[in-house]
Amino acid sequence: MELKDKVTIITGAAGGIGKTTSEEFAKAGAKLVLVDYNKKALKKLAKEIRQTHVDVIEIQADVSNEQEVKKAVYNALGKFNKIDILINNAGICKMIPILEISADEWDHFMAVNLKSVFLFSKEVFRYMKEVKYGKIINIGSAAGKIGGLAAGAHYSASKAAVMCFTKSLALQAAPFKINVNCVCPGPTKTDITLAWGDKTNIEFAEKIPFKEYAESIDIANAILFLASDKSKYITGEILDVNGGLVMD
Ligand SMILES: NC(=O)c1ccc[n+]([C@@H]2O[C@H](COP(=O)([O-])OP(=O)(O)OC[C@H]3O[C@@H](n4cnc5c(N)ncnc54)[C@H](O)[C@@H]3O)[C@@H](O)[C@H]2O)c1
Repeated sequence: MELKDKVTIITGAAGGIGKTTSEEFAKAGAKLVLVDYNKKALKKLAKEIRQTHVDVIEIQADVSNEQEVKKAVYNALGKFNKIDILINNAGICKMIPILEISADEWDHFMAVNLKSVFLFSKEVFRYMKEVKYGKIINIGSAAGKIGGLAAGAHYSASKAAVMCFTKSLALQAAPFKINVNCVCPGPTKTDITLAWGDKTNIEFAEKIPFKEYAESIDIANAILFLASDKSKYITGEILDVNGGLVMD
């Protein structure tokens, strides 16, 4: 029970990596605030986790909407009286050439993948600063380092910014003993990569030294490590989980 009673907000909880992370955190003893805009999948997950006698609330919210983010954090504090861990995981990805990205689509990607991280981190940091404890974990992407095997430029740029935001916040949060880190996955078996199709996935797996995509559990394990006290002296770190695709 590495995370016993640690109140954890997980955004994008209903998706591939978010769902596995939620399940692993439940097993580790955490109390969960699950956030997603997919109401049906969110309810289903919360019900399944509740059946294992874990304290969990689900909040349907658009992570790019400031009022909804504020309300989610307010409700989390109202229910549990504290927040120990924030996992900024919600994100969207699309394989699209640059000439086909409209200005509106660019803004949408920045809002969901980047502004959301800023909004949630700001609200949670406001609280964690007072109690001088907390862990904030953002989810980057190998695409944010190398431009992306299949991702659009808007996706890659948003993830590069998430990684730099992680370091900026880590600096400002360090005096309050708050760790801010980032897990940086390579291609992982979820709906995002499923949408790329078999042909592309076989081709891309060949480019990875491990010759296969990550499973969601590989990413969840790295998040769990950064959320635990085993990583208490680590901050501002971008932790690659990519089978050797990027080594920097
Ligand atoms: N799967 C990969 O290959 C891969 C690689 C690198 C990074 N990532 C990152 O990992 C994170 C999780 O991705 P995944 O693969 O599990 O994807 P996924 O599509 O399976 O899950 C994403 C979840 O985010 C939710 N979401 C999307 N937009 C939202 C919004 N505006 N408000 C609230 N919820 C929203 C979706 O409903 C979904 O449940 C993302 O940030 C993604 O960019 C994934």
